[in-house]
Order: sequence, then C-alpha cells, then structure tokens
Amino acid sequence: MSTIKWGILSTARHAANTVIPAIHAARNAQAYAVASRDAGRARQFAEETGLSASYGSYEDLLADPQVDAVYIPLPNNLHKEWSIKAAQAGKHVLCEKPLALNAAEAQEMVDAFQAAGRKLAEAFQWRHHAQGERVYQMVRQGEIGELRLIDAGFSFPLDRPDDIRWDPALGGGSLYDVGCYPISLARYITRAEPLSVTAHARWAASGVDDLVVATLEFPGGVLAHINCSFALPLRRYFELVGSEGTLYVNRAYNPTGNSGEEVLRYGPDREVVQQIGLESANSYTLMIEDFSGSVLQDTELLFPPEDAVFNMRVIDAIFEAARTGATVRLG
Ligand SMILES: NC(=O)c1ccc[n+]([C@@H]2O[C@H](COP(=O)([O-])OP(=O)(O)OC[C@H]3O[C@@H](n4cnc5c(N)ncnc54)[C@H](OP(=O)(O)O)[C@@H]3O)[C@@H](O)[C@H]2O)c1
Repeated sequence: MSTIKWGILSTARHAANTVIPAIHAARNAQAYAVASRDAGRARQFAEETGLSASYGSYEDLLADPQVDAVYIPLPNNLHKEWSIKAAQAGKHVLCEKPLALNAAEAQEMVDAFQAAGRKLAEAFQWRHHAQGERVYQMVRQGEIGELRLIDAGFSFPLDRPDDIRWDPALGGGSLYDVGCYPISLARYITRAEPLSVTAHARWAASGVDDLVVATLEFPGGVLAHINCSFALPLRRYFELVGSEGTLYVNRAYNPTGNSGEEVLRYGPDREVVQQIGLESANSYTLMIEDFSGSVLQDTELLFPPEDAVFNMRVIDAIFEAARTGATVRLG
C-alpha cells in the first residue's frame, strides 16, 4: 500500500474548501469517500470535490473496508462520539480541533485509540509549517533575549447567524473554535504547561462566549496573554516578547509562506532588525502527509494525541476562570 484512502465524515465547508484539496495534493493520500446525514447531499458533494464514493450515513462510511483513515470536521460536540466509533470500526482518525469538549473526553478518545491500535491526531495544521519550528528555534537560540511574554490572538467577525459556532449545544464559542490556537501556540513555544490561569469572557445572546481574554502563567515566569473572538476583526497573530526584542508573526495559525508573509524581529527600540521570509508550503497537505505516512509506516505522528488532552486542560481552566473569576491552578 503506498497511499492512504480517506473518508470524510460530513459535507463540512472546511472539508470542501481546504482539507479535501490538501488530500488531493498529498503524495501519500487519496481522497476517496464522503458521508452525510443526507444521501443526496453526499452524492453532490462527492461530485463537486472529486471523491469516488458517497454514503447517506456516517455508519455506512465507517463500514467500508476500503477506508483507511477518516477526517472528522463535525461540530465539536460530535468529535468524541464519531472518532471513537471510527476507531472501533478499525479506522485511523484525523479530527478537527478542538479534539473534544473537555480534557476528560479527550483522554477517553486517546484511550480508545490506544485500545484499538489506531492513530488519532488533532488537526492543528499550523504546527506542520516550517514557520513554527523557525520561530521556536529563534527563541531557543536567544534571538530576543529571555522570553518573558507571549501575546497571541485569533479573532474574526462571525456574521453567519446560523453557523454551528453560535450554538452551545454543538460545542460553539470562540474559545473552542479559535482560542484553542493561541493556547497551542503558547504551549508549543514554551514546551511547557501553564501553572495557573485567569480569564474574562463576554457571552453572546446564544450562550456561547464571543470574546475571551486569558492570562496563562508558565514555569519560569513566562506569561501568555491569549485572546479570541467572533466579535472582532480578523486577527491571527502572535508576538513573542523577550528581554531584548520581539518576534511578530501576522499570519500565525494558517501560514502559507506566500508572498508578503514574514516573521519580523524587532530590537529593543521597536526597530526592525530582521525580516524573515518563509518557504511556501500548504500546511494542510503537510499535516495529511504526516498522518498518512505515520499510518503507512506505522511510525509516530509528529504531534501525539496526548498533546490535545493538555490543550483541553487549558481550555477547561479558562472556562472555569472566566465563570468563577478565580485563578485556576493547574500545576
Ligand atoms: N483547522 C481549520 O483550519 C478549520 C477551519 C474551519 C473549520 N474547522 C473545523 O471544522 C469543523 C467544521 O467546521 P465548518 O465551518 O466546516 O462547519 P460546517 O460547514 O457547518 O460543517 C459541519 C458539518 O457537520 C455535519 N453535521 C452533523 N450534525 C450536525 C448538526 N447537528 N448541525 C450542523 N451540522 C451537522 C453537517 O454535515 P452533513 O449534514 O453532511 O452530515 C455539516 O456540513 C469544526 O470542528 C471546525 O472547528 C477547522
């Protein structure tokens, strides 16, 4: 076997626009089938996205022995249920972020995949682009002095009133949807887990959070200021601030490396001391290739699913801190 055959659970926009094209472009993957709650919708989606099979239920796709791996872009409240069903059907799973609704659910998923001997990954594609490693190495090598502050945010105006992200029953809210990125970024850069968390949230009429600000205290005194929102303009940045300078990344969580994207290094007086261009690469394709390669060669994934449990622990703590006003201790 030289390619992994992928099945897609649902006709999600994100699958059609981004992930299926990334599977088509991957050297070791084949975009094969889709399942929908509606057979007609699945058929039309398969035609439009170049898939050869379609199913009118998620169960039927999982029963297809030709499917090696399943990509799950379902609403967040369904991630755990369908990932575990897929594992029990013998499939490997790439599941959208956040992996689950809380750390306990995420741990249950990790355990189920371990028991089934199948691979599970959270679809944080940004970590597969060279930008992340480059920035991490610059910090490690002391190019901004001693790291002291991580300021990271992801927001966009969510102007579709019927979007799944507004529905609390479907696991909506900005912390789950986009806040998970700056959290993963802060953990990636520090290679550590926060010791404590404080947070404030604004709650939308539907009941989901639409603006969250959190402070994470990491070992060694590094502080991270995290923000996310559905009620602000598009921002997807991070700034790593050290004793002697700053690294600023404008397109932080879906880097492409196409023209104009760069990492800026500022000196102590905010003067630009370095402009770092990035190599052009599709981080979604890199993620699919990593996952498919890991299944084909039975090797470790670049990012183990246990990482998602730790990311969810921070999300749990931010919700608790925002609801109670208390400092939540994790360490
Ligand atoms: N990593 C990224 O860059 C990125 C970007 C965007 C989105 N995402 C993730 O992808 C997932 C889907 O997001 P999306 O914007 O593509 O959503 P979407 O277009 O609304 O797709 C969700 C799909 O889930 C299925 N579904 C099953 N039960 C449902 C229910 N009760 N209500 C609504 N839909 C239901 C529907 O497919 P059927 O009716 O065909 O079954 C629907 O098409 C989310 O987990 C999101 O976080 C990730």
